[in-house]
Amino acid sequence: MHPFLATALDAAEAAAAVHRRWSGRVGVREATLKGVSDFVSRADVEAQQAALAVIRTRHPHHEVLAEEDDPDQPPPSGHAPLWVVDPIDGTTNYLHGHPMYAVSIAVVVDGRPEVGVVTCPPTSERWWATRGGGAFKNGKPIHVSDPPDLRTALVGTGFPFKAIHLLEEYLGQLGRVLRNSAGVRRGGAAALDLAFLASGQFDAFWELDLKPWDVMAGILLIEEAGGVVTRVDGSPIDLEPGSILGAANPEIQRAVAKLVNGP
Ligand code: IPD
Ligand code: CA
Ligand code: CA
Repeated sequence: MHPFLATALDAAEAAAAVHRRWSGRVGVREATLKGVSDFVSRADVEAQQAALAVIRTRHPHHEVLAEEDDPDQPPPSGHAPLWVVDPIDGTTNYLHGHPMYAVSIAVVVDGRPEVGVVTCPPTSERWWATRGGGAFKNGKPIHVSDPPDLRTALVGTGFPFKAIHLLEEYLGQLGRVLRNSAGVRRGGAAALDLAFLASGQFDAFWELDLKPWDVMAGILLIEEAGGVVTRVDGSPIDLEPGSILGAANPEIQRAVAKLVNGP
């Protein structure tokens, strides 16, 4: 097993235990807003503390980039492995008792994810991948789907609800993809969406405004499951992702990119 994978799995489990502890006991009334439509609750904060306690105990010299940390802290130096942590991906779902939420943990080395774990407590699904070592769900190897064309493809997406200035542009994209695919789904937890693409339940996925903790683990899942993932303009994704466009194969990615990038 990759030396960091056991830590990532244990850290995700520690965060998941916090999800279970507060599930149904914190809602939007107990949460605060840290930005437009951007909730944070004690479950987010405690889940992050639990995950980071595992990571820092075992790898005290590594760096951490975690969603609920102070946004003004200095950026990572890049000189040590970087743990990228989303303690609850899908906080709005979690606070409403909607079962689509997860923990997402990646270890990034030289700007690329080397280990990725996505854990979904409500379903007990756990995806993980290591670079060059394949992608797995609950211990079984996973592979992206083999869609014949975009017409038959199921496409995942996320709304730009935290970047509402992108809405008009996004609604145009949504209309075009809806008209040219078998369907579009929006769950509200990007890490899970990417895990669904990696395990063949989506044929493609795009979203315009994402952070590193939303996507780093999912990117590795997709790549190790045989899929492709870039920004919507085709550029490679780094620690400031912005947009993302993943697909089961380059043909489907090109077809979605054409629709997303223009009428
Ligand atoms: C959000 C979810 C959502 C996506 C947002 C993310 P959070 O993460 O992944 O699906 O559409 O862009 O910010 O705030 O629940 O961790
Ligand atoms: Ca997130
Ligand atoms: Ca989060």
